[in-house]
Amino acid sequence: MFGLRLTTPQLELRPLTEDDLPTVAALIPPDAEQDPAATTYDGLDSVTNRGIVVHQGYWKSWGSWRPESWALPFAVLHDGELIGTQELEGEDFPSLRTVDSSSFLAVHARGRGFGKQMRRAILSLAFGPLEAQAAITSAWHDNYASLAVSRALGYQANGVSLHRRDAGRDEMLHLRLTRSRWLSSEAAAQVTITSFEPCRAFFGL
Ligand SMILES: CC(C)(COP(=O)(O)OP(=O)(O)OC[C@H]1O[C@@H](n2cnc3c(N)ncnc32)[C@H](O)[C@@H]1OP(=O)(O)O)[C@@H](O)C(=O)NCCC(=O)NCCS
Repeated sequence: MFGLRLTTPQLELRPLTEDDLPTVAALIPPDAEQDPAATTYDGLDSVTNRGIVVHQGYWKSWGSWRPESWALPFAVLHDGELIGTQELEGEDFPSLRTVDSSSFLAVHARGRGFGKQMRRAILSLAFGPLEAQAAITSAWHDNYASLAVSRALGYQANGVSLHRRDAGRDEMLHLRLTRSRWLSSEAAAQVTITSFEPCRAFFGL
C-alpha cells in the first residue's frame, strides 16, 4: 500500500507512515475532530492526549484492516512539507461501494484551495480504481470550511442528526456525492493516481 501516490496540481498524497506520527501529533489543530470514543488519559494534558489518539488511530487503521472495514490515512504534502492528513474509509465496501472521509489541514495551510484538492484526490481514487458508487461525509452545521469543500465537489444534502457536543448536543449535517454526479463533473481530471495495482487485493477487488 505504501507505494500508492495521488498527485494534484499542488499536493501529493501518500499513505501515512509511522515516521509521520510525531509530525502529525504536533500539527493536529484543536478544531480537528478526533474519535469521540478514544480513551482520554487522566493526568496528561490535552495536546499529549490528542497526540496519543493520532498514534492509536494509525495503528488501529493498519492493524485492523479488512476489505470489509478499512480506513486509509494519507499524509498531505505541499512542496515536501506535511501539512495535514486526509483519510478515506470503507465499511462493508465490497457490498455497499460507499466511502466516507475525514481530514485536517494545519492552520497556516488553509484558505488556499488545498482542502478541495485533497478531497478531490481521494474521491478520484474512490470513484476511479475503487469503483465506488457513492461518497458520504458529515460535519457540524457550523463547520463552514468543511461544508464548503463538500458542496464545491458536488455533494448534496443527505439529512441532519443530533449528536453530543461538549456539554450539550448539536446538529451534524450529512452530505452525499453520487457516482453519476462525480463522473459528470470535471473534478477527476486534475488528479494522477500511481501504483494502485498492488493495493487492489486489500480492497477485495
Ligand atoms: C476542512 C479543511 C480541511 C478545509 O481546508 P481549507 O484550506 O479551508 O479548504 P479550501 O481552501 O480548499 O476551501 C475552503 C472553502 O470553505 C470556505 N470557507 C472557509 N471558511 C469559511 C467560513 N467561515 N464561512 C464560509 N465559508 C468558508 C472557503 O471560502 C472555501 O470555499 P469556496 O470553494 O467556495 O472558495 C480545513 O478547514 C480544516 O482543517 N478544518 C479543521 C478540521 C475539519 O473540520 N475537518 C473536516 C471535518 S472531518
